[in-house]
Amino acid sequence: MPATALRCRVCETPYPLDPIGVCARCFGPLDPVYDRDEQRRTISRESIAAGPLNIWRYADFLPVAAPAEQRLAPGFTPLISAPRLADALGIGELFLKLDTANPTHSFKDRVVAVAAAKAVELGRTTLSCSSTGNLANAVAARAAAEGLEAVVLVPASLEPEKLIATSVYGARIIAVEGSYDDCSRLSVELSFELDWAFVNVGLRSYYAEGSKTLAFEVAEQLGWTLPDAVVAPIGSGSMFTKVHQGFGELLELGLVQGDTPRLFGGQGEGCSPVALAFESGSKVKPVRPNTIAKSIAIGSPADGDLAVATARDSGGAIHAVAEDQIVENIALLAQTTGVFGETAPAVSLGALRAAVQNGELGESDRVVLLVTGDGLKTPGLVADRFDPIRVQPDADQILETLGVQV
Ligand SMILES: Cc1ncc(COP(=O)(O)O)c(C=O)c1O
Ligand SMILES: [Zn+2]
Repeated sequence: MPATALRCRVCETPYPLDPIGVCARCFGPLDPVYDRDEQRRTISRESIAAGPLNIWRYADFLPVAAPAEQRLAPGFTPLISAPRLADALGIGELFLKLDTANPTHSFKDRVVAVAAAKAVELGRTTLSCSSTGNLANAVAARAAAEGLEAVVLVPASLEPEKLIATSVYGARIIAVEGSYDDCSRLSVELSFELDWAFVNVGLRSYYAEGSKTLAFEVAEQLGWTLPDAVVAPIGSGSMFTKVHQGFGELLELGLVQGDTPRLFGGQGEGCSPVALAFESGSKVKPVRPNTIAKSIAIGSPADGDLAVATARDSGGAIHAVAEDQIVENIALLAQTTGVFGETAPAVSLGALRAAVQNGELGESDRVVLLVTGDGLKTPGLVADRFDPIRVQPDADQILETLGVQV
C-alpha cells in the first residue's frame, strides 16, 4: 500500500496511519501521504482496468488496503450523457455521474467503505457517525454487510423516510433535538469516551479520501480525459475538495493530461456559509441552517475554507441557490434526463444554472454534474406534483378525459 503516514494540512506534523482525527499540535485536519514513486511504478491505466468494477480498483490511491472480501462494494457508478438538459441550459456537453447507483443510493457509500476498511483492520466492532441522513444510511448498511454494530447521530428534524431507510439495517438511531452541527460536536465528545469507529471523527482522514474515487471514475469513464468542469454540492466541503485532489493526483502520476477541471460548488441559500465566504473573500463564518436541502445543511463546515480555495484555485466558483429553486431543479433534472436526484444534486444544478447565467460555463464546455443522492429517499418534497387523473375502469371515459374524439 503506497500510503505511508498522515500529515497535518496546516503545520505539516507527520503522524502514523492511526485513527487520529486532528493534529495534536494545532487541531488542523490530517491527510494521508503517499509514496508517489511507488505509485508511479505500480499504477497504470492497465493495472486499474484489471481491478474490480468498484472503488477498490483505485486501492493504490487510498490510505487502507482493499478488503480481502469486498462485500457490498460501492463505486463505478454510471456516467451518462444528458443532451436534453445540456441544450436546455446552453452547455456544450453535459454528463451526470449517477452516484444514486451505490448500495444506499448516495456517494457516502464510497467514504464509508474506506473508513470501515480501516475500522475492520483496527478490530473495531461498532461503526458510528454524525450525519445529515445519507451518511447514516451508508454506515448502517456497511455495518450490516461487515457484521458490525452501527450507532448514528442525526438531527431529529430529518426527513422521516431517510431515518426509516437507516433503521431497516438494524442500526441504532440517536435522534438529536438539534442541528447537524450539534450531532457533530456530540460525536467528537463521545469519541473520547467510546471505543467506536466514528467514521467522520477519528477516521475522517481515511473517510474523506474515498471521495477521490469520484474523480478517478469520471476520468476513466471519459476515456482517461478530463472534463472542463465538475459541479458538486457542498456540505462540509470534504467531497468537493477531494474530487479536486483526485484529479490532481491523476495529473501528477501522468495518467491523464490537460488542465485541472474547474470546480463549481452549490449550497442552498438557507445554509450557504461557504458560498458567502467565496463571494466576500473572507473566512467561512458559521451560520444556523435553514434550508430544505437537509443533506447539505452544515452550518459550520469543516472543510469550508479549503472548498473556497479549491473553487478559486481551479478557476471555478461557489453559488448559493435560492430555496424556491431547489424543488424546481429536482423536477428539471427528472424531466430532462429521467434522473430523480435529491436536494443536493438539485442545488448543484442551481449552481450550474448560475454559472451559465454569469458566463462562467457555456457552449464550449464539457461539464460533469455529480448526482450524489437519490430523490426516492425524500419523495415528500415533490408530493404536490402528484395529481393523477382519477377515472372509472372505462376506456371511453379515459379518452373523453384526454379530449380524444373517437
Ligand atoms: C447527497 C449528498 N451530497 C453532498 C453532500 C456533501 O458532502 P460533503 O459534506 O463532503 O460536502 C452530502 C452530505 O453531506 C450528501 O448527503
Ligand atoms: Zn498541525
